[in-house]
Amino acid sequence: MSGNAKVAGIIGWPVGHSLSPALHGFWLEAHKVDGAYVPLPVAPENFSFVLDGLRRAGFKGVNLTVPHKEAGFALAHETDEAAQIAGAVNLLIFGEHGHMIGRNTDALGLEASLRDAGVHITGETVVLFGAGGAARAGVLALNALGAKEIRILNRNASRAEALAGSLAPKIAACLTTGPLTDWPKAASDVKLLLNTTSAGMKGKDALNLDLAPLPNDAAVCDIVYNPLETDLLKNAKARGLKTIDGLGMLMHQAVPAFETFYGVRPAVTPELRRHLEAALK
Ligand code: ATR
Repeated sequence: MSGNAKVAGIIGWPVGHSLSPALHGFWLEAHKVDGAYVPLPVAPENFSFVLDGLRRAGFKGVNLTVPHKEAGFALAHETDEAAQIAGAVNLLIFGEHGHMIGRNTDALGLEASLRDAGVHITGETVVLFGAGGAARAGVLALNALGAKEIRILNRNASRAEALAGSLAPKIAACLTTGPLTDWPKAASDVKLLLNTTSAGMKGKDALNLDLAPLPNDAAVCDIVYNPLETDLLKNAKARGLKTIDGLGMLMHQAVPAFETFYGVRPAVTPELRRHLEAALK
């Protein structure tokens, strides 16, 4: 690294679990970039001071993870549409004179991951589980892929209704909602089941769904990547369905960040996936 190295990083609290340093580190090496990407553990009360300091120290920008995405949105001077819809940013770009641009690349990442996997849902009906921040990115991605109807099912059905109410004016797809118990009757004609809930994550309860009502040509995508093969994906595989794990979204959401920080558009490759799978272990 030279004295002119381009520096960026990820802010979280905690941040030790983040795969982003391994991800950007892989690309930095692959592209021989004169730069660095560092993990930055920052408590919420220090967040705005740290941002100011990093910017003044010449950082190109930062990725944000839990619990800073909403605070980052509030502090950004300019935001893209995906960030406005999510009310959260995962990327802050430091511009001239203290100007901060906030972006949310989660929906783009999920859309690219589903495209990569050959999932075609144009004009089709899909089911989405969840009604949190990740569900917002999920709705945007499914809409961008041309879904005709998105059935949003959530444990707490009123949260699903609120989510659909706020997103409906901004998207073309028809949004319907219900409790998780609607699953069997919602499943019979769908092309894709997308889980955006945190159920199935390491240490949390699984969804315990019966996948029998899904058509044989349906795909199942889980945005959880720890573990990489959730019980949901295991069951889907056992039923012979196409599965898409959460690593694809993680890799693709990082592409715009890397390109902005270092000026090179990186590729999502099988080598990168292997590198991250090793880092997960
Ligand atoms: P995020 O912003 O990451 O989406 P969140 O806002 O906390 O996080 O949302 C978590 C989502 O996972 C919610 O949809 C939650 O359902 P509720 O709204 O009913 O709480 C869902 N979730 C978490 N654990 C779950 C479980 N064991 N079974 C079903 N849904 C679960």
